Amino acid sequence: MISVFFKTYGCQANVADSAGIASFLEGLGCVQVESEGLADLIIINTCAIREKAEQKLYSYLGELLEFKEKLPYLKIGIIGCVASYRKDEMLKRFEYISFVSGARDERTTFLTYLADVIVQLQTEKQLFAHNFDRTGDVTLTQLAILGRDVKLAMSKRSLVLPARLLKEGAQAAMGGTLAPEGEIKRAFINITTGCNNYCTFCIVPFTRGREASYPLEDIVMRVSHEVVAGAKEITLIGQNVNSYTCPQTAVRFAALLEAVALIPGSFWVRYVSPHPKDMTRDVLEVMAKYPDKLCAWCHFPLQSGSSRVLELMNRTYTKEEYLRQVDLIRAVVPGVALSTDIIVGFPGETHEEFLETRDVAQQVGFDMAYSFVYSRRKYTKAFSMGDTCSPEEKAARLADLQEVLRAGSLATAQRYIGKNLRVLVEKRTTNGKLLARSSGNHRVVFDGDGSLVGTFIEVCITEAGQSELRGEIIVAPTAISKEHGRAA
Ligand code: SAH
Ligand code: SF4
Ligand code: F3S
Repeated sequence: MISVFFKTYGCQANVADSAGIASFLEGLGCVQVESEGLADLIIINTCAIREKAEQKLYSYLGELLEFKEKLPYLKIGIIGCVASYRKDEMLKRFEYISFVSGARDERTTFLTYLADVIVQLQTEKQLFAHNFDRTGDVTLTQLAILGRDVKLAMSKRSLVLPARLLKEGAQAAMGGTLAPEGEIKRAFINITTGCNNYCTFCIVPFTRGREASYPLEDIVMRVSHEVVAGAKEITLIGQNVNSYTCPQTAVRFAALLEAVALIPGSFWVRYVSPHPKDMTRDVLEVMAKYPDKLCAWCHFPLQSGSSRVLELMNRTYTKEEYLRQVDLIRAVVPGVALSTDIIVGFPGETHEEFLETRDVAQQVGFDMAYSFVYSRRKYTKAFSMGDTCSPEEKAARLADLQEVLRAGSLATAQRYIGKNLRVLVEKRTTNGKLLARSSGNHRVVFDGDGSLVGTFIEVCITEAGQSELRGEIIVAPTAISKEHGRAA
C-alpha cells in the first residue's frame, strides 16, 4: 500500500485541489498519512501569492532532503501555483524532486501520470523491501523513463485512464473533502477556476489561467453527494465566485447558491471569494432567504481604502462604491459578519492613502481581516511600477493597520455577548473544550460532550476575545432541532 503525505500551502483553491487528488489516490488504494516520515509519496501544493509563501516552500524542500536520503524510492511531487511558473527552475535546482505539474496543467493528464507513479512506486517499494536496491537508484532509473515535467512527459506518452478512474479524475478536479480524525467533515468544491480580473498586484491569473465555471448541475450533484457522505460544511470556491456563469445554462451565482441551499440535509454553506465589483443584490437576497443553510458571512476583500490606489490596482471600484456595497450586504443579510483582505505599501501608496485604508477599516469594523505588505510578483503589472516607500515604512503601516483591525474584531465580537448563536461543533480541543463555529465564522469555545461534534447547537455567548467567543450550551442536546440558523 502506498502512503501519501500532502503539504498544502495557499488558499482554499489549493485545499480543494489537494483534497480532490487525495480522494483520487484513495481510489487507487493509497492511504493518506500525517507525517513526511511515514510517506512513500509527498505531494507539495504550492502558493505563489507573496514572496514569503515561496520562501517557505524552498526551506521545506530543504528539510525533505533528509527523508529522501533515508528512503531512496520516496517520491516528491510539486504541484500548484509555484509549479505553474517555475517548473524548469524547480527541476534544475532540486534534483530529488520527482515531478512538477502546474496548477494550469490539465488535471486528468496529471492524474493519469500520478496513477502511473503509484504503479511504479509499488514496484520500487517491493524491490526495496526485498533488498534488491538498498544503495542504488531505482528511483532515478524509473524517473528517467517517466519524465519529471508532467506536461512534457505526458505529451510524449499515450497513457489513458480506465473509465472508472476517468470519472473519479473529473470529480477530483472539482475538489474534495477533509475529515481529520475527531473533526467534522468539510467539503471544498471549486465552482470556478482561474481568474480574468488581472488585479495589478496579483499573480493568480498567470498561475491559474483564464476563468472557467463548472456546470451548475455537476456542482449540485457533487454537493448532494458530499452531504450524503456526511459533510457538514461546504465551501464553494472561486477566485471571483460572483462572476460564476454556468457554461450550460448561463445562470449566475445567485441561482447556483439557491440550488445548493435547496439540497436537503443538515449542513452549512460558505463561499470564497466574491469581488466587490460583482456583488449583486440577488446573491444577498438568496443568502437572506436560506439562513439555515447559507452562512451569514461574507469575505469581502477591500485591498485598499484609497480610490486612487484601487484604480492602480485595477480593482475597478472606488472607496465609496466599496462602502455602499458593505451597506447593501448589511441591509439585506441580517446579522452578517464581514471579513476582508487588505494590502499595504502598494507601489506609490502615500501615507495619506494608507490613512484612508485605516479609516475605511475603522468605519466598516470587520469581524476578521487578513492584512499583508505588498509583495512584488513577476509577470504582474505592478512589478514595474515605481515604489518609493521603504520596507520599514511598510512594516510600520502594517503594524498600525493590524492594531485597528484587532480593535475592530474585538468590538464586533463583544456585540455577541449575551446573545444566542447557533453553532456547528467542529471538534474537541486538546484542553477538553468543544470548538465550534458560528454562521458568521466566529470560533466559539465552550464546555460540552464530545458526542456533540458534528451537530448544530445553540450557545449563549458569555465572553468575547478578538479571535474567539466563549459561551455555554443553552439547548439540551436531546432538544436540538435539525434546523439551524444564525445569530438570534
Ligand atoms: N481571488 C481572491 C484573492 C486571492 S489572493 C480575491 O480577489 O479576493 C488572497 C489575497 O492575497 C488577496 O486578496 C490580496 O489581499 C493578497 N495578495 C494578492 N497578491 C498580493 C501581493 N502581490 N502582495 C501582497 N498581498 C497580495
Ligand atoms: Fe487576484 Fe484579483 Fe483575481 Fe483575486 S480577483 S485572484 S486578487 S486577480
Ligand atoms: Fe496562492 Fe495560487 Fe491560491 S498563488 S493564494 S494558491 S490561487
